[in-house]
Amino acid sequence: MEAPPVGARRGGNVRFVALDLQHAHIERELTEAFSRLLGSSAFTLGVEVEQFEAEFAAYSQARHCVGVASGTAALSLMLEAYGIGPGDEVIVPAHTFIASALAVNHVGATPVLCDVLDATGLVDPDAARALVGPRTAAILAVHLYGQACDMDAIQALAGPHNLLVLEDAAQAHGATYHGRRTGSLGDAAAFSFYPSKNLGALGDGGAICTDDDVLASRIRRLRNLGQRTKGEHVELGYNERLDGLQAALLRVKLGHLDEWNSARQSRAALYRKLLEPGVRLVEERPESPSVHHLFPARFEDRDAVARMLAALGIETGVHYSPAVQAHPAWKNGQLRHGEVPHADAWAAEELSLPMHPDLRPHDVERVAQAVHAAVSVPTARSGVNRC
Ligand SMILES: Cc1ncc(COP(=O)(O)O)c(C=O)c1O
Repeated sequence: MEAPPVGARRGGNVRFVALDLQHAHIERELTEAFSRLLGSSAFTLGVEVEQFEAEFAAYSQARHCVGVASGTAALSLMLEAYGIGPGDEVIVPAHTFIASALAVNHVGATPVLCDVLDATGLVDPDAARALVGPRTAAILAVHLYGQACDMDAIQALAGPHNLLVLEDAAQAHGATYHGRRTGSLGDAAAFSFYPSKNLGALGDGGAICTDDDVLASRIRRLRNLGQRTKGEHVELGYNERLDGLQAALLRVKLGHLDEWNSARQSRAALYRKLLEPGVRLVEERPESPSVHHLFPARFEDRDAVARMLAALGIETGVHYSPAVQAHPAWKNGQLRHGEVPHADAWAAEELSLPMHPDLRPHDVERVAQAVHAAVSVPTARSGVNRC
């Protein structure tokens, strides 16, 4: 009998992510990249970073890519390079990873939380429009779970007020909107290469993509202690550089991103076929096919479903609970928000099912079966059937 691939199962579990499997397929390429880097000794910035930047800019259909130390650094350097700071407000969805809002605080500005669409969990353009005021500098379109936001509606609300449209594309490498890639849909876009992302480093990493020449060169200075030429520091910058090693490894992985995104899409299609209409999933719009960084479902009693799946050896995650405003991090005045009922509902009901390129169709079937069994228990019904 053929042995299952190493790590496909851990004690019979269906795993939430399986980076060891992904790396096993490309181990030789990764090792070659590591050797190349050792040979060059270009450990901070340097040739591998420059080549990755050129390749990721081309992939993302943007003129520039600037590699930085994390997605959070990408967000805050993007904001700072645009001159956003104390006294400014940035509209951020209330349903996202906390870093989307924290980065606004890091530059001294105030995040103003807007509600999301119930169907997709993405920024609700009408809710955002209602929050625009004299201090609003930008709107952050977070392409959550792998699906691009409704960028036409966001651009339409930003235009008359001269707002910057910024993308948080940390979960959407390679996703498209009307055929254009994330990274090219606004004034500038921040990416994270956290290991479990669709394009993940073997450590932390991030990047900003933009067509704006001035912005790109300002971020290049800010990430490197404000240095313009060697030894000449022209502003108060940071050490937020992308490592040469991470860039070399990311170059390898970028070559596989489309194939991995397609694998995610085919697993998502199977989940959808097996789970709908009984289980409530993210609505996917034809103009913005998702790259399924995560595969969220919604349940009235999310925690009960998670427990029942765990008992059957199926790993799940929650993205995100509580909603951004409910974290104890913010002190008075550091965050503005009104009622965000859809964000609150997402935070209460969302459960992410296993999703990664090496998930086998058989595992998807096993998860779907377990979900149906769980929701047939009265306390854990799917959110769709609520009356
Ligand atoms: C939507 C979103 N924004 C920002 C970040 C921050 O990225 P990082 O963890 O690389 O700082 C992440 C991921 O971690 C994210 O999912």
